[in-house]
Amino acid sequence: MASSSKALVRLLSRSNALVPFVQGRFASAAAATQAQPQMKKFKIYRYDPDKPGSKPYMQEYEIDLNKCGTMVLDALIKIKNEVDATLTFRRSCREGICGSCAMNINGANTLACLCPIDTDTGKTSKIYPLPHMYVVKDLVPDMNNFYAQYKSIEPYLKKKDMGEEDIGKISLKQSPKDREKLDGMYECILCACCSTSCPSYWWNGDKYLGPAVLMQAYRWVMDSRDDFKQERLEKLRDEWSLFRCHTIQNCTKTCPKGLNPSAAIAEMKRLLIGYESTGIPRQ
Ligand code: SF4
Ligand code: SF4
Ligand code: FES
Repeated sequence: MASSSKALVRLLSRSNALVPFVQGRFASAAAATQAQPQMKKFKIYRYDPDKPGSKPYMQEYEIDLNKCGTMVLDALIKIKNEVDATLTFRRSCREGICGSCAMNINGANTLACLCPIDTDTGKTSKIYPLPHMYVVKDLVPDMNNFYAQYKSIEPYLKKKDMGEEDIGKISLKQSPKDREKLDGMYECILCACCSTSCPSYWWNGDKYLGPAVLMQAYRWVMDSRDDFKQERLEKLRDEWSLFRCHTIQNCTKTCPKGLNPSAAIAEMKRLLIGYESTGIPRQ
């Protein structure tokens, strides 16, 4: 214990009730610093396509879990800060909100900031970028196609009787019941974990829109304030955009936000072939 800490304990111990608490806190802090290292191995995908002739490989790192936060993102940040500054990954919010830390951890697509480190030090954790995407560097996938597909569904409110001059002047009201129809869809953070776990998207990602974008398409179809419901649906009436979904449900299984894009896709298919909504829960 540092001498200043001892002095603090002595000072506080003159004032009775705090003594056991303060001494206990210092004792457990001292015990923690003396704890045996809990060394955990991580194998991480590395690839820098800008380096001529370079090929992807797995690099092993080892860190002490006693000196690391509890989530996989904590481990990645520790490795980057203390072991290898060249390791590249995306992250921003650290709270499961921005969707930027999506990656494949121990075989499942998820958010590194919401994924606890497997504390079994006998097992090596394996981390890859989201599958079947072009790689910008290491764990950073190229999201350009995904965002272009999102743009293609026009993810914003469209009105038939409103001009640009009306924007911000007219209040568009929605009943609580109609608002509820968006539950389970508006929460999507566009992390792409679902789309990149979908076999149909792996093989036909240039033509099939994939579960994330399709659920957002359905979100606007279901918005009572939007005037283009039928046009939005008709745009998906082809062999590839929507009907390439075969209801395997990898998407729903992997969504780190607990959403159900597969149900949204099924409902949109039913609308397009003239059936009513099934009312399957989307979360
Ligand atoms: S549905 Fe889930 S997995 Fe898919 S993009 Fe949205 S939040 Fe991510
Ligand atoms: S249910 Fe459809 S979108 Fe989801 S993984 Fe299967 S094929 Fe892909
Ligand atoms: S850092 Fe934002 S979702 Fe993980």
